[in-house]
Amino acid sequence: MNDTLTLNNGVQLPTIGFGVFQSEPEETTTAVQTALAAGYRHIDTAAGYGNEREVGEAVRRSGLDREEVVLETKVWVSDYGFDETRHAFDTSAAKLGVDVIDVLILHQPMPQHFERTVDAYRALESLLAEGRVRAIGVSNFMPHHLAALAERTEVVPALNQVELHPYFTQRAVQEANAERGILTQAWSPIGGITFYPGWGEGRRSVLEDETIGRLADEHGVTPAQLMLRWHVQQGRSAIPKSTNPARIAQNLDISGFVLSDDELRAIDALDRGVRGGPDPDEVDPSTWDVTIPDA
Ligand code: A2P
Repeated sequence: MNDTLTLNNGVQLPTIGFGVFQSEPEETTTAVQTALAAGYRHIDTAAGYGNEREVGEAVRRSGLDREEVVLETKVWVSDYGFDETRHAFDTSAAKLGVDVIDVLILHQPMPQHFERTVDAYRALESLLAEGRVRAIGVSNFMPHHLAALAERTEVVPALNQVELHPYFTQRAVQEANAERGILTQAWSPIGGITFYPGWGEGRRSVLEDETIGRLADEHGVTPAQLMLRWHVQQGRSAIPKSTNPARIAQNLDISGFVLSDDELRAIDALDRGVRGGPDPDEVDPSTWDVTIPDA
């Protein structure tokens, strides 16, 4: 699968990208090298993941031209503010070992300190104008955060990366994104957040959902492949994470089947309306003990 989506400024983004959230630095380089060898051309990381250096190393080791790989990373909330976010760009670019970051986004809306969020976004706008980033966007923005940002800034975000899997489909966010010309990008697209250890008791893995399992069996694919196909057919970007070579390859191999409208609707109907990740209205620099070290 090597389809691409076109962002609102014309930049091409591979539909299926590769995620490295919760990939330990030691395993990230190998995982990203495996992904690039399998055909992925978009890697999603974040300053807050602590593995940008390893992502950059994998791209260099791959032998691919820099232009062939779309690198996306995120500014952490402790680096919001105009000057701080410009510095965060320098830090991420240095760790990745690149001059230009393809997609640079704000990791959280941080509504309690929205002035700083707006200043951070204005820094992204300035980097875009200077050609140091090719596209800018946001993550975990709910419709009211998008509205507040739009009132204060010029450039419409190219994408909004949000938790999105069959148990949490975020219809209102998808609609708000679409109305504004923002691409919806799914994090935890196969529902890893519903079973990641340490993220709360009593979770039920989407990968083990009965309906997902039945539909996957009917198409002769795995639950993960089924969910990724659902994203792609509904026009979303998805960034599944894996450190396992067979699963890395499997998650890109989703061209050989098509879901019917009824099947897409059956998957939509699994929504429980309960997020697995943190509430974007709550996250601020004190939520996690994360500061981003200089390069
Ligand atoms: P692993 O890295 O061992 O493959 P998400 O991207 O939705 O958060 O999901 C990531 C989680 O799903 C990780 O725990 C990953 O584990 C697992 N995973 C990734 N691909 C598959 C797959 N094809 N089948 C089952 N589990 C998968």
